Formats: sequence, C-alpha cells, structure tokens
Amino acid sequence: MSAPAHSVRPIRKAIFPVAGLGTRFLPASKTVPKEMLTVVDMPVIQYAVNEAREAGIEHFVFVTGRNKAVIEDYFDLQPELQETLENRNKTEMLSVLKQSQLAAGTTSFTRQQEPLGLGHAVWCGREIVGNEPFALLLPDMVMMAEKGCLSSMMEVYNQTGGNVIGVEECDPDEVSNYGIVAPGDEVAGGFEIKGMVEKPAKNDAPSNMYINGRYILQPEIFDLLGKQKAGTGNEIQLTDAMLRLANEQSFYGTKFTGRTFDCGSKEGFIAANVAFSLSRDDTGTLVRDIIEGLMKK
Ligand code: UTP
Repeated sequence: MSAPAHSVRPIRKAIFPVAGLGTRFLPASKTVPKEMLTVVDMPVIQYAVNEAREAGIEHFVFVTGRNKAVIEDYFDLQPELQETLENRNKTEMLSVLKQSQLAAGTTSFTRQQEPLGLGHAVWCGREIVGNEPFALLLPDMVMMAEKGCLSSMMEVYNQTGGNVIGVEECDPDEVSNYGIVAPGDEVAGGFEIKGMVEKPAKNDAPSNMYINGRYILQPEIFDLLGKQKAGTGNEIQLTDAMLRLANEQSFYGTKFTGRTFDCGSKEGFIAANVAFSLSRDDTGTLVRDIIEGLMKK
C-alpha cells in the first residue's frame, strides 16, 4: 500500500553504469565507449543525463571502467572551444555546448575495475550515494517521449515511496530476452509489482511487461548487492538482489508509453538514429528523402 507522503525521501542522485565492455560494438568499442556513440549528434550518455536532469536529479554518479575516461572529459568545460565559438558569434552552438555540460560539483566518477555485472557496477556507487534512495538509468536504453520515463516514475514514487521500476510491453514472443514483472493492483498512477522473473520462457512469463532500464531504489539494495553471488552469465545480477529486496520492501511499476531504443544493440542503435533524425526539424525532411530514395533502389 502507499506510504504516507511525508515519509518519502527525495531522489537527488542517479547512477549511470557505463563500465560494460560493449562487445556488440567491436571494433568501435575498442577505443570509443559505446556510450559515446552518437544518436544524430548527441552521445548516447547525454540522452540519459538529460532525462535525469528533467526529473530533478542533482548529482550524477558515473560508474566507469578502463578506456572510458573520455566520458568524464565530455561533461567538462571546453574553454578553447567556447572562446572560439564566442569569437565567431556562434550563439546557437554555444547554447548546445552549455546544455551538454554538468555544473561543478554535481558529478562523481568511480571505477568498476572488472566488469563483474550490472549489479556489481551499481554496488560500486554505494559510497557516493550513501544512505539515501537513488535513481539508476541504464544509458543504453535511449528513450523518446514528451515526458521522460524517470519523471513519470518520480510522480509515482512521490506518492508510494519504496522502489519503482520502469516497465514496457514487449512482444510476448520476446519475454525470454528480458526481466519480466508480475503486475498487481493499480496504485498512484502505477501498479504494485507482485513478482519479477529474469528471462522467463514464454509459457512461464507472468506478463509481457519488461523492465526497461530505469529504476528508483532504496539504499538497502547495496547491502544485498554486496552479498550477492554471481548468477546468469556468471555476473552479479541486479534482478537477483531486487528479488531479495522485494521480500522486505514494496516495488511499484510505472508503464512508460514513449519509445525506447536499446542502443546496446546494433539494430536498436540504428533505429534510434533513424527515429531521432526523422523527428528533428533540422534533419527530418532530409533523412526522410534519403530513406525514400534508398527504398526505391
Ligand atoms: P550490457 O548487458 O549491455 O553489457 O550492460 P555490455 O558489456 O555493456 O555490452 P555487450 O553485451 O558486451 O555488448 C548493461 C548496462 O550495464 C553496464 C553497461 O555499461 C550497460 O550500461 N555494465 C554491465 C557495467 O557497468 N558493468 C558490468 O560489469 C556490466
């Protein structure tokens, strides 16, 4: 049931796990982190940061790994570039540059020395997050919507407290690719989650609603992750720890109705580039013409 509003602690910090190897993007990911590949002209990581910013996040925690230092540089100031743009009166580009930066003191970078799994990456953020609830965004999942997925989840969280997960419907034939939730009663614009199962067979799946890479979690998850043994793929799995947390705390789902592109896969990344370029004023018509031309051949 909903917790009283006064007991709901605000979500100030968000973790962005960016330490994965990105093997599906080899050879590019040998030297370019997959989070820095661009959807039109913005790196994948910027979409998740913008979504978090829109939802009111104040502190951005990046869990990086080797060869990912360029992500830290990306969010820094670029004084020479800024000066050159100012001298050339490029006001539009200057504002694009400003929007991509994060304010002093609002970022933290920590390392996951070995890619032991998503659950382990989240655990690496424990000292920075401390004893408060936090958001977790998997940057690979790039979302297109009027209102960001995390903002919608915050609206539910502000009424329910507890843990909130973003979910979406998938093709019932594809449930075995995802973490799937069992929905319960509707509450506060979301619904109670009665169960979660990682990559179920089609006939065992409790629904076709998959966990879409956006989470609001209570800090008790860190202790559970610290004790969590490796699971599927010999990796420390976040879902395993969430299942244990669900024995003690409430979980709620928020159904996201926008479009999500899994930019960790080639096809999702290409689809995101097509969809975002079609949706933009500066590129839409041009790209539509190109696609139509290609389809005729
Ligand atoms: P993925 O399952 O997409 O794995 O991780 P990956 O290693 O990044 O990519 P592939 O499968 O080799 O192509 C989901 C998210 O969890 C992070 C990734 O960076 C991505 O945001 N992750 C995964 C870590 O930070 N550390 C890990 O040990 C594993």
